[in-house]
Amino acid sequence: MEVVVLPTPEDCGRVVADVVTAAVEAAPGGVTIGLATGSSPLLAYRGLVARHEAGLRFDHVTAVLLDEYVGLPAGHPESYREVIRRELTDAVGIDPARVHGPDGSAPDPLQAARHYEALVTSLRPVAVQVLGIGANGHVGFNEPGSSLASRTRVKTLTEQTRADNARFFDGDVAAVPRHVLTQGLGTIGEAEHLVLVATGAAKAAAVAGAAEGPVTTSCPGSVLQLHPHVTLVVDEAAAGQLERADYARYVLAHKLAEQGW
Ligand code: F6R
Repeated sequence: MEVVVLPTPEDCGRVVADVVTAAVEAAPGGVTIGLATGSSPLLAYRGLVARHEAGLRFDHVTAVLLDEYVGLPAGHPESYREVIRRELTDAVGIDPARVHGPDGSAPDPLQAARHYEALVTSLRPVAVQVLGIGANGHVGFNEPGSSLASRTRVKTLTEQTRADNARFFDGDVAAVPRHVLTQGLGTIGEAEHLVLVATGAAKAAAVAGAAEGPVTTSCPGSVLQLHPHVTLVVDEAAAGQLERADYARYVLAHKLAEQGW
């Protein structure tokens, strides 16, 4: 795992945008990228929109989302499909038919989960998967206790996650769905390159658990330690509990150009 500690959230967004840009440019014949929603990747997505406006093309890109709320009607402004459309995919010109997410409005969510797992499998390889992390260490919506080998399925959000996400629902926790469809940790781990971005002190414990803690279902992000290609991009505040932050800064300062991301 490469831990990249940068001064500001803007710097983090730039590196995540660089990673996605490299994948998009490397495969002009077609590439699948995995997208997270939430606040953490927004600066990266804004950077990608700016690059698109400067000429970067996305018409060969297929996008797969990590997760979706169960029970929000299709088109609900806080459904993750809508959020990603608004924040990124429309603005960079990815055909909506090539933007895929679990169907949280399906009458049978269990069937929707199986269907999405099969769809993601059919769209592999996922060249880059953008990730955020919850304050409790969740990745996707794999809450603590999730199997490290899990596949796409229905999960129940913790009350902490619902409270954290109430900000997207006018502060109304009751409006945050209890259930979600999420790619499993095993599903996510099949992407070729995982790039996780976390900013702010509220993420510091989760980041330390993911990067340096034991590999444990208590911190689902710790499963990233088993993946061969992970870039963990954090600002100074989110790096605040990393024991090896100084080494990470040293590595970055002496990185060989050939090493890339
Ligand atoms: C969202 C997702 C979640 C978020 C996490 C952090 O698609 O999979 O794991 O990345 O909840 O959310 P923010 O970035 O809003 O703090």
